[in-house]
Amino acid sequence: MQSQLEQLKQAAIDALKTVTDNESLERLRVEVLGRKGKMADLMKQMATLADEERKLVGAAANEVKAAIEAAFGEAEGRAHEAQRAQRAQAEWIDVTEPAIGVRSGMGNLHPVTQVRESLEDLFVSMGFIVEDGPELESDHLNFTALNIPPTHPARDMQDTFYVDGHPDMVMRTQTSPVQIRGMRKYGAPLRLIAPGRVFRNEATDVRHEHTFHQLEGIVVDKGISFSHLKGVLETVAKHLYGADTQIRLRPKFYPFVEPGVNGEVTCFLCKGAGCRLCKKSGWLEVFGAGMVHPNVLREGGVDPDVYSGFAFGFGLTRLVMLKYGIDDIRHLEGGDLRFLKQF
Ligand code: DAH
Repeated sequence: MQSQLEQLKQAAIDALKTVTDNESLERLRVEVLGRKGKMADLMKQMATLADEERKLVGAAANEVKAAIEAAFGEAEGRAHEAQRAQRAQAEWIDVTEPAIGVRSGMGNLHPVTQVRESLEDLFVSMGFIVEDGPELESDHLNFTALNIPPTHPARDMQDTFYVDGHPDMVMRTQTSPVQIRGMRKYGAPLRLIAPGRVFRNEATDVRHEHTFHQLEGIVVDKGISFSHLKGVLETVAKHLYGADTQIRLRPKFYPFVEPGVNGEVTCFLCKGAGCRLCKKSGWLEVFGAGMVHPNVLREGGVDPDVYSGFAFGFGLTRLVMLKYGIDDIRHLEGGDLRFLKQF
């Protein structure tokens, strides 16, 4: 009997060595230690023994049972550990792996946005406010209120997109209508810039695009003169192209200013010597500007006998093209990441 106990103990311990999962462990436990298990069978047989022998066998049986239980305890620990390791393997994540969707790295601001924000900072530092205007604008504010009546030839150069059933609305061709909106909203005195998207019905090519960006400015106050305009444009030119940049203003007609000028800056590439970029002239055409026409001040609700002002506008898109030497304007609205990632 004692040898049977010994055998049971050894068999159980051997079997437990290879068990790593909870189900096998439970099955084995029922088989060995269960009510109808092998241990119980042997115990039953003890009833047939003589008193003396039963004591001995009983003591041995208790030892065997304790040893088997201890072996189960160890096997349980091993099974638990194996499971934990298995789960760790299955649920393993690499916290250093880049998240899906940003594998290509951080994004960056569009070059037009970068130049716009830099200019906004400059103008805000000079006391200007930054104003938005609608891209779908009334024909009146985009043209008529800016001294461009329906029959004016200046409209031909700024053909745009129209909205079916709304003959009085246009996709704005310039940011200049925000001059009027700004005067009506804030009155005088006023220092305002209005950057934004504008639209024209262009046959697109390397230099023409149906959608591009401008930045408009207007200053209205008592005693504003042409020299104020020149000072501001010079500050902007130096901010954009460096402290040694000079500007040149030459007469040019714009319906909403009188007098009007075409503002040029010394070519930043050749410093005025003449090169491919400036077409050998040494100058780059950047600004349209002038003294605000009295009709335009009146449209804005400002009395031209009391106040005067200057206004200017320039193509943000053009500035970006000059700055980075971009030879095809269509890249800027094209949305091609290979292009956009370079800035
Ligand atoms: N709006 C003009 C254009 O799109 C640019 C311009 C010229 C704006 C002269 C002005 C200005 O404010 O005074 O060509």
